[in-house]
Amino acid sequence: MKNFCRVFLFVALAFPLLLNAEEYVAIYDEAKIPAYELPDPLVFENGERVVSAADWAKRRAELMELFETHVYGKTVLGRPDEMRFETTKEPVPFLDGKATLSEIRIHFTDGEGPFLDLLLIKPKEIPEGGVPTFVALNFRGNHSIHPSTEISLSKSWVTENSKDRKLGVVLENRATEKARGFRGSRWPVEKIIDGGAALATFYYGDIDPDFHDEFQNGIHQLTGVPSADEWGSIGTWAWAASRVRDFLEEDADIDQNRVAVFGHSRLGKTALWAGAQDERFSLVISNNSGCGGAALSRRRIGERVSRINTSFPHWFCRNFREYNEEEAELPVDQHMLITLIAPRMVYVASAVGDTWADPKGEFLSAKHAGPVYELLGKSGVGVESQPDVHEPVGGTVRYHVRAGEHDVTDYDWEQYLKAIHDIPVKK
Ligand code: GCU
Repeated sequence: MKNFCRVFLFVALAFPLLLNAEEYVAIYDEAKIPAYELPDPLVFENGERVVSAADWAKRRAELMELFETHVYGKTVLGRPDEMRFETTKEPVPFLDGKATLSEIRIHFTDGEGPFLDLLLIKPKEIPEGGVPTFVALNFRGNHSIHPSTEISLSKSWVTENSKDRKLGVVLENRATEKARGFRGSRWPVEKIIDGGAALATFYYGDIDPDFHDEFQNGIHQLTGVPSADEWGSIGTWAWAASRVRDFLEEDADIDQNRVAVFGHSRLGKTALWAGAQDERFSLVISNNSGCGGAALSRRRIGERVSRINTSFPHWFCRNFREYNEEEAELPVDQHMLITLIAPRMVYVASAVGDTWADPKGEFLSAKHAGPVYELLGKSGVGVESQPDVHEPVGGTVRYHVRAGEHDVTDYDWEQYLKAIHDIPVKK
């Protein structure tokens, strides 16, 4: 018995160690970052300098193609001819009558096909010129943002982890009634309405469920398996944000000059890529987007390209894997993604405790996008080094780092509300 116990103890202790042998070891020590040189957004691939706005338009096209080919993949679908909007819930009073809530199903085919369910919450009183609006991707279904039973419970596939099972919010990858509002802390809907903005949110899994199935489900049913330089899931989610933007174009209540795209984490990466491609987003908000989002890949702090491509092989295009241990070979880095948004507003936000996403790397991207903004007569972050906690900086390119962990908090939303009202009115 004694021996059995010994063997048992040995196996119990050694097994996790053996498993860990292959485990990814993240670097958090700045001193361990190898020397790197960032590619210059203001130098063409042939070495010539960009000196005017006209030059920039050409350089921007060059950079767009590089991101499409090497990072996110080409967006292989436009606005489908068959796309149609079905109002599935006519506006009803919401938040004690100070808002209205409606639901729209955006169909991408004229049959059953893939669709997304949009939840639209607007202030009851629409100001002249329309209401500024956040197009926001959510992780867990529209019902997860607020407990109201007016919001339809998503029937789509949702992630299920042990925490969800304990809470009873997901059962066999479907949301339960208990899931209503369970992510409410990230969605201060009343604050958004009181702050004079509308919220247009949708569940990203409606477009492409977030697991790797070799691109069979979701919108891939319409486009087939992507080739090495064609979109991964991030590309599909970004595409969906543009289809929501199409819908909003037809709504007279929306201030068409002030529509932002917002996302957190993997959806922050998505927001940046959506905003880079679709110039109808006049403010692009990246909340804690990290690797493959705002963080500079060449710093290799926290999550690296190799790790993200291994854990999430479906997010980026296959070509991105070529850079797994070779960040320095990338023809771009993530500051250039931000330059694609210029001269429009962009907000990069970090959290001190979110070291996996490399808060300093997120700041540096925002900072190094500055020269392009300046060339176009706009302002960058306006500071040399990362500001202190809760000290937002910048003009057209904004940045803050808040206390706390990887999350979305009221503090973040307060800054985004200020930003959306600061979007310059087009003359
Ligand atoms: C993981 C992943 C990140 C991602 C995050 C999220 O942590 O490594 O890249 O941003 O999930 O989306 O929550």
